[in-house]
Amino acid sequence: MYPRICFHIITIFPEYFQSALNCGQLKKAIDKQLVQFVFINPRDFARDKHKTVDDRPYGGGAGMVMMLEPLDLALSCVPEQSRKILLSPRGRIFSQTLARDLAKETNLVLICGRYEGIDARVEQLHNLESISVGDYVLNGGECAALNVIEAVLRFIPGFMSKKDSFEQDSFSNGLLEHAHYTRPEVYKKYKIPEVLSSGNHAQIAKWRRTNALETTFKYRPELLLNTTLTEDDRSFLASLPQKHVGKNLYLALLHFPVLDKFKKISTTSLTNLDIHDISRVSTTYGLGGYFLVTPLKDQQNLAQRLLVHWTKGPSASLNPDRAKALRHTKVVSNLEEVEQSIEQKTGQKPVVVATSAKQGQVAPVKIRGLLERKPVLLVFGTGYGLAPEVLKKADLVLQPIGYCRKYNHLSVRSAVAIIIDRILSEFW
Ligand SMILES: C[S@@+](CC[C@H](N)C(=O)[O-])C[C@H]1O[C@@H](n2cnc3c(N)ncnc32)[C@H](O)[C@@H]1O
Repeated sequence: MYPRICFHIITIFPEYFQSALNCGQLKKAIDKQLVQFVFINPRDFARDKHKTVDDRPYGGGAGMVMMLEPLDLALSCVPEQSRKILLSPRGRIFSQTLARDLAKETNLVLICGRYEGIDARVEQLHNLESISVGDYVLNGGECAALNVIEAVLRFIPGFMSKKDSFEQDSFSNGLLEHAHYTRPEVYKKYKIPEVLSSGNHAQIAKWRRTNALETTFKYRPELLLNTTLTEDDRSFLASLPQKHVGKNLYLALLHFPVLDKFKKISTTSLTNLDIHDISRVSTTYGLGGYFLVTPLKDQQNLAQRLLVHWTKGPSASLNPDRAKALRHTKVVSNLEEVEQSIEQKTGQKPVVVATSAKQGQVAPVKIRGLLERKPVLLVFGTGYGLAPEVLKKADLVLQPIGYCRKYNHLSVRSAVAIIIDRILSEFW
């Protein structure tokens, strides 16, 4: 019988793998000839009597680099059709999806780096694919290779006993797995969920699904963004208590002082779409409030009339959703008034975060962190953006959307929607 998959491991430490391959399911799989391991040591291809495989880096700096030739010669020993993987912190992050894909191969080559890594030309010479096991640095690729081996083998038919189907594993269906319990039914004061000993398979399946959804929501909510969910799943998730850090976030849309197209300080007029669309975004994400800031009395009156029309008049009963959104919107004369209003409501001065298409360094994730502890006021400009004095006075300036792109001229309402989602996402 031919092994279903063969791992060709290029390493200067083949002994690293010995205990892992000599116990449990891995040993059984080798004994059953389901899997084969071939070790190739670059030292065997070194030219000097010391078997040197590392050298100093060009350009100077600390550490050594794995030399090109011993790795090139080691790689010339593997079957031509193999998929060749370099374990590297700068690779694509390893995942259950990638493990499932690699399990389709017959020959997988795993190259384990050491020192500061390998001479970069090996990657070009052998068209290597890089995989990282996470955003941290290990001493060498061996430990990472073992991760890949175990995760891949779980997809090889015959590796797992029938009852341990990988289909129920965490990540296989885009969710973390449900909790498990075994005997005894009660330990100290802790009982197992009653349904699990009921013998009702439909109820057990339902419990497992909702438990998996709840666990994923609690620990890895971002996974839910890429998972296919049924209507029942979605209504269950909507019933869970939300963290609501969004209520600490406030928005101000400034109509003065802003720049005009000649870069002069000016005052802009209200835009109906900005009033409606930004109110709707604020309400969807559960923000603390949305302030329309204009010093012009007639513009303030106009905004008030509009808000009353939608929140109190016949339109409110005809379109209650819109009324709900616009009820969170307030009209004020200047930014100081906004800050005072937030301080009165929360008892804390808000951190003022200005926005710009051109400047700013603070990442949205930092704002997300601040919201756990204090109110944050995000300030957006109309016209050609906030006046320099507003940017200067702000505590922080947020990193622009599309700063890596040649064009990033968004309408303010689009920018608000994107920024709010980057800070709060669907599940935060
Ligand atoms: C000390 S590390 C080199 C780290 C490198 N100087 C850097 O900062 O990116 C030595 C080797 O360990 C392996 N390694 C370290 N961290 C890894 C990770 N997160 N995923 C996969 N391989 C890793 C790679 O093979 C790497 O060449």
